[in-house]
Amino acid sequence: MAAAIKRTKLPLGDSIPVLGQGTWHFGEDPARWDDEVAALQLGLDLGLTVIDTGEMYGDGAAEDLVGDAIDGRRDDVFLVTKVSPAHFRDGEMALACEKSLRRLGTEWIDLYLLHSRGFQLLDETLDALAELERLEKISSWGVSNFGVPDLRELIQVRDGVHVQTDQVPYNLARRDVESDLLPWCRTRGIPVMACSPFEQGQLPSQTGLRRVAERHGATPAQVALAWVVGREGVAAIARARTPEHVRENRAALDLRLTPDDLTDLEQAFPLLGNERPSAHP
Ligand SMILES: NC(=O)c1ccc[n+]([C@@H]2O[C@H](COP(=O)([O-])OP(=O)(O)OC[C@H]3O[C@@H](n4cnc5c(N)ncnc54)[C@H](OP(=O)(O)O)[C@@H]3O)[C@@H](O)[C@H]2O)c1
Repeated sequence: MAAAIKRTKLPLGDSIPVLGQGTWHFGEDPARWDDEVAALQLGLDLGLTVIDTGEMYGDGAAEDLVGDAIDGRRDDVFLVTKVSPAHFRDGEMALACEKSLRRLGTEWIDLYLLHSRGFQLLDETLDALAELERLEKISSWGVSNFGVPDLRELIQVRDGVHVQTDQVPYNLARRDVESDLLPWCRTRGIPVMACSPFEQGQLPSQTGLRRVAERHGATPAQVALAWVVGREGVAAIARARTPEHVRENRAALDLRLTPDDLTDLEQAFPLLGNERPSAHP
């Protein structure tokens, strides 16, 4: 029997499994619709209850597809979607959120992320988020692709804001967040949500994973996933369209990497000079 899935606590108290399911490019090909719905539903059955999507994915098609996948089981899901910078202003965010809710077939979003920093004044954006929280359209909010300067600005604009996560690309081949963002977030108890844990499918074929995978009778993809979810203060979102990949990814959560494994991976995927953790995050 599989062990219980490790969980991460968000600042407001929700706890989520360290691995969730991504939906970038889902819903774009009608011929794949049913398979993508089935993949998400299998993931839910296996305990991967965080589903991450965005209004930008397929121009809303991914949210529509997620709506199909969670139909009748909304309470089993921790639903994350993202609002695009084009909709950060007050009235526009309310409308964008309403459209997302309609496509998702739900009355609330568990975590609403600002998809990237954008150019809007944060003050107005924060007011719009607060209003959505007040109306219980969203339960909490966070950010995505924010750097430390953006997060600092956020906190300066409004002291005491409750940013639940920063979702950024992070994997063995892309470790730049270790220089500043990861330590900064760890210090403040904000989990980083690692997206593209397979570098959009490129990472599993890299030779550096093979030796560790063989040692455990695992696949390279499982090693890549076990590494990222094993990092302190990190949860991940992986996209898988096939049932084999969904099962494999769930099983990767039971893989325990040893100190020798970690040393081998460090050697195969070294930090570059400019990625070393700074002394003052
Ligand atoms: N906030 C942002 O700006 C942002 C940016 C990027 C991603 N994201 C989120 O993070 C999610 C994941 O990132 P991603 O979509 O870039 O891709 P990813 O998860 O890094 O990689 C997905 C690719 O890996 C393959 N894969 C999945 N499991 C595998 C396994 N066990 N073995 C071998 N290959 C496997 C998939 O194949 P199959 O499809 O054939 O199973 C797919 O081709 C996105 O879908 C999205 O929700 C957010």
